[in-house]
Amino acid sequence: MDWFKDLDSEKIPEHIAIIMDGNGRWAKAHGKPRVFGHKNGVKSVREITEGSAEAGVRYLTLYAFSTENWSRPKLEVNALMSLLVQTMDNEITTLMKNNIRLRTIGDISQLPEKNYQSLKKGMEETAHNDRMDLILALNYSGQADIINATKKIAAEVKEGKLNIADINCGTFSQNLSTAGIPPPELLIRTSGELRLSNFLLWELAYTELYFSPVFWPDFRKQHLYDAIKSFQQRERRFGKTGEQISN
Ligand code: FPP
Repeated sequence: MDWFKDLDSEKIPEHIAIIMDGNGRWAKAHGKPRVFGHKNGVKSVREITEGSAEAGVRYLTLYAFSTENWSRPKLEVNALMSLLVQTMDNEITTLMKNNIRLRTIGDISQLPEKNYQSLKKGMEETAHNDRMDLILALNYSGQADIINATKKIAAEVKEGKLNIADINCGTFSQNLSTAGIPPPELLIRTSGELRLSNFLLWELAYTELYFSPVFWPDFRKQHLYDAIKSFQQRERRFGKTGEQISN
């Protein structure tokens, strides 16, 4: 039986973003080192990528490594980086088979060379896939992205290519690393934490937020179903009144 069959197929979020949280606490609860949690987190990445594509999601953005994560113990950072290379190398065939395109946001040029190369390879090989875009946020910071966009816009103004009066939301969106990607309709954060942690700060302006108590390594299609179901029961008003929306 299809796990998503009771969802309204007309109201599947086009873009879901996920803050995958709770790997460390999950590992601790199992009496294991933190890295064990990350390894099991990869299983959830696989399952939720597959589930999102099955349900008809067009963009899935996963917060895999923030600019702040560099300050974790060196051992953990190294383990996360090797896990990423391993996962990339193992999963390219699956991405190809499922017609999924790999993309990244964040400054991947600052990742270890091995990571940079395996991501580049994954992105090149999957560039023409068009069922779903899997966007990994790596060495990503929402604030840094906004600052970068501001710098690019300021340079255009300085060069006389843009009038200050013409700067609007569109100008900003086009200069972010997510340019051309519709903003997430649904944000999921696992593990019970109620924060955005510097993720997609501009893009989340009107996103529906869903917080799950489940630690990421335990997050399965059933939990994704619950999140999408909750999204489908909401009224999105974008600043308007409920009456305006129902008319
Ligand atoms: C948050 O849990 C998780 C991360 C910082 C990393 C997420 C990485 C993976 C799931 C594995 C690799 C990813 C890909 C895309 C292949 P935490 O460590 O902050 O958990 P805690 O809050 O319980 O300590």
